[in-house]
Amino acid sequence: MENYDYTNKTMLAPMVRIGTLPMRLLALEYGADLVYTPEIVDKGIVGAERIVHPDNGTVDYQVRGVSVFKTHPSEKSRLVFQIGSANAELALQAALTVKQDVSTIDLNCGCPKRFSIHGGMGAALMEEPEKLCGILRTLVQGTGLPVTCKIRIFEDRQKTLDLVKMIEKTGVKALAVHCRYRDERPRDPGHWDRFKEIVEAVSIPVIANGDVTEYSKIAQVRELTGVKGVMIARGAQSNVSVFRKEGLVPHLEIVRQYIRKAMETRNLHSNTKYVLMQIFAPDFTKDPHYRPLCDAKTFRAICQVFGMVEELDAWEASQKAQGFPYDVDTHPKRTVAPVAAAEEKVAESDASFCPPASISTTTATAKRKIDDVENAQDEKVVETKSAEVVESETKEETGPPAAKVAKTTTSDGSSSQPTPADTPQPVDLE
Ligand SMILES: Cc1cc2nc3c(=O)[nH]c(=O)nc-3n(C[C@H](O)[C@H](O)[C@H](O)COP(=O)(O)O)c2cc1C
Repeated sequence: MENYDYTNKTMLAPMVRIGTLPMRLLALEYGADLVYTPEIVDKGIVGAERIVHPDNGTVDYQVRGVSVFKTHPSEKSRLVFQIGSANAELALQAALTVKQDVSTIDLNCGCPKRFSIHGGMGAALMEEPEKLCGILRTLVQGTGLPVTCKIRIFEDRQKTLDLVKMIEKTGVKALAVHCRYRDERPRDPGHWDRFKEIVEAVSIPVIANGDVTEYSKIAQVRELTGVKGVMIARGAQSNVSVFRKEGLVPHLEIVRQYIRKAMETRNLHSNTKYVLMQIFAPDFTKDPHYRPLCDAKTFRAICQVFGMVEELDAWEASQKAQGFPYDVDTHPKRTVAPVAAAEEKVAESDASFCPPASISTTTATAKRKIDDVENAQDEKVVETKSAEVVESETKEETGPPAAKVAKTTTSDGSSSQPTPADTPQPVDLE
């Protein structure tokens, strides 16, 4: 990854709460070359305990029993960990905490939201280029990993070019540019016309971001501007098969695939439901599944809404047969499972994320049943409070000393330390 070739690469953009593990795994399956984690603020991960779950090999960084970042070895070589920071030392500590599970570290210098700006993070860093570059240099020198950076643009063209040239000198391997000004909203059209001059000003790869909403636009923006890579956020949130050259997969099929991934990775119900609701909004809120989804209070209830209870039962039975008797709404930390089984599982999982055979079979059956129900009209999105609830499945640990490298333990227990996953991340979207 040191000399990663960004040429013709597409990537899933960082998206708070949306880009958690199931979405990233699906994006990779549908053709994304790289996937970004949601921004995680440095202090939120420093000192986290690294827990390997023996049932599925997922790696869970927890702070006080709450998961703040969950990954799986199958995505490691294509995973970009995005940090929110205003402090070089903290940023470095955060990067070192997760270093063993990710391939690249990215610094978020584009977030215009209040919590970021007030903290001197995100787009605030663009107004303090020395500080921004200081953080990047520290990451480049201290992590031993490729480092990248995501910015917005200034209205002032020269100011933008001066900044990107400064950033290039820090040693970053690529620069992602969201082609909007700090105060522009997603509904404001992006400034694709600005990419070309940025590409010409630097010799590192430039990744274009903003308004790439369908597969055909990937080639279009590349040809128009000369960018190496293309990054997609909202287009992937609506339908993650946007990366697929053969065209979009029907909406309901995406929904079911997402639920399967969430099941296999034991994604929290709250995050699963939140993401599903965003997949339905705003175009599919009249779909008959939408209201029942809003009412679903457990993972099992979500499966009921989409006719997937048989699959869930089969998955739970196969988990039980492997020695993991808890159901999908239980997120055990220090329970069952011998350490040997955990190690074996993690070794297996290095190659790819393999769901139990029973799931694959039912998946095929389920696929055949999928009908296109995509004629819903716009409707106001109904927010769900449950999405804000971060479930804490484990007991609070004692005082988390800030550790540069997270201690590892398996979910059956054997080592422990500091501790928060799916996160008390800010709800703000960019
Ligand atoms: C739900 C959501 C969450 C986002 N979270 C982040 C984030 O954590 N870090 C970041 O750099 N940008 C974040 N963004 C901004 C996107 O990465 C991207 O820059 C922006 O949406 C423009 O790309 P698009 O036109 O493809 O949507 C977020 C955007 C959305 C819609």
